[in-house]
Amino acid sequence: SSKQELDILAAYEWLTKLYHHLIRFTKDGKEGYQYLRDRGISDEAIDTFQLGFAPNVRDFTVQFLKKKGFNEALLVNAGLVSLQNDNSVIDRFRGRVIFPIRNHIGKPIAFGGRSIAGGEPKYLNSAESELFQKGKLLYNFDLAKKHIRKQNEVVLFEGYMDVISSYQAGVLNGVATLGTSLTESQAKLLKRYVDTVIVCYDGDRAGVEATYKAANILRKAGCQVKVANLENGLDPDTYIQTYGGEAFKNEVIKASNTYLSFYMRYMRKDFNLSLESDRLAYLDIILNELAKLESVVEREYYVREISKEHNLSVESLSSEIESIRDKQG
Ligand code: UTP
Ligand code: MN
Ligand code: MN
Ligand code: MN
Ligand code: MN
Repeated sequence: SSKQELDILAAYEWLTKLYHHLIRFTKDGKEGYQYLRDRGISDEAIDTFQLGFAPNVRDFTVQFLKKKGFNEALLVNAGLVSLQNDNSVIDRFRGRVIFPIRNHIGKPIAFGGRSIAGGEPKYLNSAESELFQKGKLLYNFDLAKKHIRKQNEVVLFEGYMDVISSYQAGVLNGVATLGTSLTESQAKLLKRYVDTVIVCYDGDRAGVEATYKAANILRKAGCQVKVANLENGLDPDTYIQTYGGEAFKNEVIKASNTYLSFYMRYMRKDFNLSLESDRLAYLDIILNELAKLESVVEREYYVREISKEHNLSVESLSSEIESIRDKQG
């Protein structure tokens, strides 16, 4: 890597340590510490994820790094400070809890910063650079990797807090995208390590839409997809705070659905199934999807489900699927 990249890595390493020290041991980091404790985050997790606090001071970081010999231009390129109109520089992260974003060998290359007093945006990331490209990285992949391999399964979350709360609940194979939708490159990365991806996005509308998109990207990359079962509106972190880690493991992660059950539920929202015409259109979509399944056993499983639910005979559904399969070749 270039000299500049090495310098950026060094700047992030210094800052990660500084912010972490502040949050753990000093008055300057106390509001950040209190914020995390109020959200149920333990000292152990704060240490494991190297969480920190950036004080609400205009140029705290700039001054610290300048003293260490870094120049302003480098800090701008590192996405750590912003250039003002009058050419002065100002810290990008002020009064925020810091989530170091580590690359796949564990080196911090960016920060996510959460406002603690309701400031917008709620989360701010380092600006993207040569070194930090959101779409190629998964949060916590470095620590989760060995568990992902061992379990041949990965849990995919939306947010940092979901990863950390799940970690505290004993789910160690969790990673998250960084505030963008899952990319093909992230899906391919996961496919190199696992067969099964459990998508555990937020249970709100946006989360369900994002689940559908991510699931399809993952399937295209050759992953088996399961979808975790979150109650309306809750995200994994709030679920754990509300019902506890054991419930999360047993009733959300272990009880995750197959992609197809998710798909059936997901598609239903566009139809009024009490109307005959809607019901036929809905079944047509579902049967076409079912016809793509290679396993007879799997097809039969869903055929029985649909037969029960829509009061149709197993025979007529099966023969419909056979005829679709003939056409699909
Ligand atoms: P969420 O809005 O679901 O945040 O965004 P969250 O993690 O549940 O946040 P808490 O629990 O209120 O702290 C999920 C992820 O999207 C990114 C962050 O990575 C966040 O973890 N995000 C969210 C942003 O990048 N910017 C934002 O303003 C909001
Ligand atoms: Mn520590
Ligand atoms: Mn969300
Ligand atoms: Mn969320
Ligand atoms: Mn949340």
